[in-house]
Amino acid sequence: MHPTHNFASDNWAGAHPAIVEAIAQCNDGHFPAYGDDVYTRQAIQLIREVFEHPEAEVIFTYNGTAANVLSIATCCKSYEAVICAETAHINTDECGALEKFAGSKIYTIQTKDGKITPQQLEPFIKLKGNVHHNQPRLISISQPTELGTVYSAEEIQELSQWAHQHDLFLHIDGARIANATVSLAISIANFTTHAGVDIVTFGGTKNGMLFGEAVIIINKSLLGKIKYLQKQGMQLLSKMRYIGAQYMAYLKDDLWLRNASHANQMARLLEKKLWEMPQVNIVQKVQANSVFARIPEKIIEPLQAYSYFYRWEENRETPDERFPLVRWMCSFNTQKEDVIGFVDTLNKLLYGY
Ligand SMILES: Cc1ncc(COP(=O)(O)O)c(C=O)c1O
Repeated sequence: MHPTHNFASDNWAGAHPAIVEAIAQCNDGHFPAYGDDVYTRQAIQLIREVFEHPEAEVIFTYNGTAANVLSIATCCKSYEAVICAETAHINTDECGALEKFAGSKIYTIQTKDGKITPQQLEPFIKLKGNVHHNQPRLISISQPTELGTVYSAEEIQELSQWAHQHDLFLHIDGARIANATVSLAISIANFTTHAGVDIVTFGGTKNGMLFGEAVIIINKSLLGKIKYLQKQGMQLLSKMRYIGAQYMAYLKDDLWLRNASHANQMARLLEKKLWEMPQVNIVQKVQANSVFARIPEKIIEPLQAYSYFYRWEENRETPDERFPLVRWMCSFNTQKEDVIGFVDTLNKLLYGY
């Protein structure tokens, strides 16, 4: 029997029942449009509390790409540039949305694990002041990274200190920041607001919401601009209350942390089972809700036929054709049985039992 939940992406999961209920509950009656409603206002208040920043500006967008584009457009002029890991979603998977809507150039850094360090940023400083080059203005990191690894609060603090010393801002793409939060087992404020981050996105869609992401502007000098960019950038939903109501339910009783914790636990369980298989080579630390591994080419299709997942695109000079890279991602509603069934099928394909 095929499992009900596969390992393709947390984007493939549905919405948590509490979220669906919250949407149904805010459906009755008329409320002011464009975010002037009681749900949006309360959600903003709750997010400020979670980020321990009463003055933070908070806006909502429909999706994560828009949250990133609006954040970066808030920080950079058209001739300024953002620096990120080569694997960053803004670089690889947003179809040039940033380049089109913000006009920013992206400078990339090759990494082993999706994480960048201050040392790797040093060469970009030489570009500053040279009129022939886009001016570095922002560092963007993903937390967790697209390779499922997580920055510690200290690593983020080092990056923000380095950024500020060189008159740059630090942005976090937090599409899955809930998974990083439970992985670090500290409050989200400790590795954002209190670690010197200037602007951060706080994703909902990948962790049990139907749609909706938030952008939190922490740095005072960036306040007041994003609402205009949001409208101009086609992200000011008239029925914004449907995002506000979802965030209220998402934050109530720590649903966001419970969902992420479950997804991370399922990834750990999968990892544990895979360590028993010599032909499966786990290539990244499993710190959030995804597992990256190399497996024999010949079993990929039959395994995908049982339960779908993605091959991972590699920009390596010598990709390993016999042992391609794959990503297995868990979500808030991945079941233990899904993991066990997947591992059993993998065992049968690899070892015949
Ligand atoms: C790290 C990261 N950031 C941003 C996004 C963009 O989200 P969306 O597809 O909702 O635009 C994704 C989507 O998978 C992502 O993985």
